[in-house]
Amino acid sequence: MAIKKIGVVGCGLMGRGIAEVSVKSGYDVVVSEINKELLDKGMAAINQSLSKAVEKGKISESDKAAALGRIKGTTDMQDFKDCDLVVEAAIENLDLKKKIFADLDKICKPDAILSTNTSCLSVMDVAAMTKRPDKVIGCHFFNPVPVMNLLELVKTITTSEETLSMATGWGKSLGKTIIVAPDRPGFIVNRAFLPYIVEAFEMYEQGVASKEDIDIGVQLGLNHPMGPLTLADLLGLDTLLFIMDAIYAETKNPKFIAPVLLRKMVTAGHLGRKTGKGFYNYT
Ligand code: 3HC
Repeated sequence: MAIKKIGVVGCGLMGRGIAEVSVKSGYDVVVSEINKELLDKGMAAINQSLSKAVEKGKISESDKAAALGRIKGTTDMQDFKDCDLVVEAAIENLDLKKKIFADLDKICKPDAILSTNTSCLSVMDVAAMTKRPDKVIGCHFFNPVPVMNLLELVKTITTSEETLSMATGWGKSLGKTIIVAPDRPGFIVNRAFLPYIVEAFEMYEQGVASKEDIDIGVQLGLNHPMGPLTLADLLGLDTLLFIMDAIYAETKNPKFIAPVLLRKMVTAGHLGRKTGKGFYNYT
């Protein structure tokens, strides 16, 4: 089977990014949301991002028009029936993801690949909801999807080599570099990333240094695009807390205990850029 048509479940930050990079790479795309309001918001963001690419001279007006002609927004999961590969990018809720996989398994053609963009949940748990666990794989993209060059493919104990090879081909065609991770908490990247974030939070909480010095230190000293606390604001502190709690619940490894300050900030509604306040102010 050749991969020609991509389905994306969810048109939030990650889903719309996956839809955008897929359509820009020439695929037909169907992207879904749970209601028209969220769908319109996501589609408008894709349109805006494509317009920016035109302004910057990265694509032409006709490329943009062609891309928009290849993408369809929907609130009806039945529209995934002829997709070759579907990426689920719904919120990080295992019960919801399990239901989506059970539904996709019934709706999608038998040879379609089903994948999840989860950053912390067990891919095997959603694969087990289907009659095609060999065709289920994790596709962990990074935020912001159009900019980040990595795609972490998560191979479960049931994912077939053929599925891995097809997902690899698709990811490469999007311009991403592929790494293959086992279906273990944190995969590769978050396993390395989260203890680093915890250390930054703890340094700040313990008064070791100011938030600015922690960020500038890492940014310039390690040549990262941004420091850990700025990055936490970009990702969303609620997202970070959810990921840490999920990984700790599965591993009981103290490396992944969420910092007290992170929990307090989330309780206070200081979620980072999305609420205008996190470590820094964005209003
Ligand atoms: N969508 C599309 N393009 C975007 C974008 C977005 N959301 N945000 C920035 N860009 C583009 C800009 O248009 C610009 O493009 P250009 O070079 O063609 O003009 C380019 O990216 C650089 O952007 P800016 O000049 O506005 O700002 P920066 O140079 O500060 O870059 C950044 C912004 C790309 C976010 C950069 O700071 C960065 O890479 N930060 C680190 C991000 C990171 O580490 N992400 C991974 C998080 S971990 C994760 O996602 C896993 C999860 O499981 C937790």
